[in-house]
Amino acid sequence: MINLMSAELSEKQFRIISQLVYRLCGIYLRDGKQALVRARLMKRLRALHLSDFEAYLKYIESDGGPQEIGFLIDVITTNKTSFFREPEHFNYLEKKILPELTGRRQRFWTAACSSGEESFSLAIMLREKIPDSDSKDMKILATDISSKMLEKARRAVYGEQEIAGLPPAFLSKYFLRIQDAPRLWQVKENIRKMVRVARLNLMESWPMKGTFDVIFCRNVMIYFDKPTQEKLINRFWDLLNPEGYLFVGHSEGLSAISHKFRYIQPAVYRK
Ligand SMILES: C[S@@+](CC[C@H](N)C(=O)[O-])C[C@H]1O[C@@H](n2cnc3c(N)ncnc32)[C@H](O)[C@@H]1O
Repeated sequence: MINLMSAELSEKQFRIISQLVYRLCGIYLRDGKQALVRARLMKRLRALHLSDFEAYLKYIESDGGPQEIGFLIDVITTNKTSFFREPEHFNYLEKKILPELTGRRQRFWTAACSSGEESFSLAIMLREKIPDSDSKDMKILATDISSKMLEKARRAVYGEQEIAGLPPAFLSKYFLRIQDAPRLWQVKENIRKMVRVARLNLMESWPMKGTFDVIFCRNVMIYFDKPTQEKLINRFWDLLNPEGYLFVGHSEGLSAISHKFRYIQPAVYRK
């Protein structure tokens, strides 16, 4: 049995990992994040039966490296999310945006969707608030870099804690209880079919051809540095319809970066 308690992550190893992570997914691991990175990478050392970080770095450079990158991203990314997180956004969507979207075709993108709660909240809102939603062509693209999170978003199965914040009416209307101990619920088919889940790294090129009415990019830019945020925001501009909306996390205002969006209210911007 390997004793990992004493495995230290040296400054140099931390720098190598940070540079790799920055190159792979834009996440900027500041000084001071060493303990967090060490704790998260420990999971990989255990899974691979490696005794220290030197061995892990060698493994990344070996034939197993390319496959390990996905697992590295899974442990480094922070995936916290919840249904109807930052409810001000959903209120704004309901009161201001949905009444304006009168066309038959509507496109939404939840960029960095994590395990899917954000995308399904949006789909539920569209079903609830657009009376003839069945006859409309409404689609939500849900993307993230973490394969583990995307697997969960595709299953659309959530436990007791995850559904805790949902209004009870939504739970009974849009979820199926599929297991008892522990209790699990799955998002119903009519909601799931509105959401297309796909892997997309925000740092790479994007395959989408069409444009969007609304883009959610919430609580991911906080992990990027300013130049990366700026580039990303301007790429969103290009993919939004005229008058389209961009939602960012409430802790991610765009005031410090240069962009062309109009500020509407905290964390809501318009092209
Ligand atoms: C904290 S979660 C936010 C989830 C959701 N948007 C919300 O606000 O509840 C951040 C997500 O960003 C994803 N992420 C980080 N870097 C990314 C990148 N370069 N491309 C795509 N997704 C990324 C992570 O995998 C993670 O699931």
